[in-house]
Amino acid sequence: MTYAAITSVASWLPERRLTNADLERMVDTSDEWIRTRTGISERRVADDADATSDLAARAGALALERAGVAPGDVDMLIVATSTPDMAFPSTACLAQAKMGLTCPAFDINAACTGFIYALELAASMIEANRLTTVLVIGAEVLTRLLDFTDRTTCVLFGDGAGAVVVQASDEAGVLSVHLGADGGGADLLTVPGGGSALPMTAELLSQGTQYIHMNGNEVYKFAVRAIPRVTKQALAESGLSLADVDWLVPHQANERITLTVGERLGISHDRVVNAIAMTGNTSTASIPLALDDLQRSGKLHAGDVLALVGFGAGLTYGAAIVRWTLKEA
Ligand code: UT7
Repeated sequence: MTYAAITSVASWLPERRLTNADLERMVDTSDEWIRTRTGISERRVADDADATSDLAARAGALALERAGVAPGDVDMLIVATSTPDMAFPSTACLAQAKMGLTCPAFDINAACTGFIYALELAASMIEANRLTTVLVIGAEVLTRLLDFTDRTTCVLFGDGAGAVVVQASDEAGVLSVHLGADGGGADLLTVPGGGSALPMTAELLSQGTQYIHMNGNEVYKFAVRAIPRVTKQALAESGLSLADVDWLVPHQANERITLTVGERLGISHDRVVNAIAMTGNTSTASIPLALDDLQRSGKLHAGDVLALVGFGAGLTYGAAIVRWTLKEA
């Protein structure tokens, strides 16, 4: 049996910081409100000259270097993003050229669950012996889709990229993945304008349809129900139980969501990875960013079991149960 295992993780963040104090000067908000309601202190903002593919290529190149994989040895590149450079070509093709890869490359859009969807694709193709090495990247420049006069959304999101190399292995790394989608909740989190449904016009621009629109309360309720459920489904499929989970690595959308789902699953706070404070919500990048933080903290050990769990627009959700096979650096 060929297994799929994560053989490196990396992340890349822009240098420019947007603090809660900066936002206090832009909209009617406060550092206290943002920190207590979300756990966010600051987020990063991409340079004007950079697009999502630039962030993706930097995180991807670092992940390849850490895995010791040459660009010519990558069999496939999957970029999960909610903020592609443009409708087409795919962000993956643009990042592929920037990294000097020659493999097939494509994007997937499952919003903030995109990284988990991409990991499932990568692991499945490896387990089917179709591919040996897949580079999976989650990358976003979400600040370009924010209305900086709307305090209900502009304080939440940030830019960044995270990547993993997934490779064929004798050791079981990706143990199970459970994915889900409920299009009935599609209207809860959208960027309505600019696609085929509402091609951009001056009027739509003046209405702000190019920006993120979110029913935060409903997405919150969905998240705290969906994360525990899908985590348990994925665990059951892996043959493990909650007691086996060493680390819960949820999509970083709100620290209150992260802590609530940890409590509902009976996983203690020190085993729930919280990485939102300095990045905000980075959508598809948030899980690999949090994983890279955990790895660099030195707390993650070979043999540890991780539950990586995403949720987001679509509505989509998904959980991957992963046994960490990398030795400490
Ligand atoms: O990755 C994509 C998934 N997205 C999410 O997971 C987001 C999920 N939702 C959330 O994280 C939370 O619902 C929010 C952080 C978006 C909002 O927190 P909340 O505790 O649900 O606040 P709320 O929307 O119920 O608003 C409470 C109050 C309102 O004022 P009133 O009506 O009570 O007077 C809002 O107008 O807070 C007000 N408010 C703000 N006040 C200061 C909303 N945004 C802000 C703000 N600063 N930035």
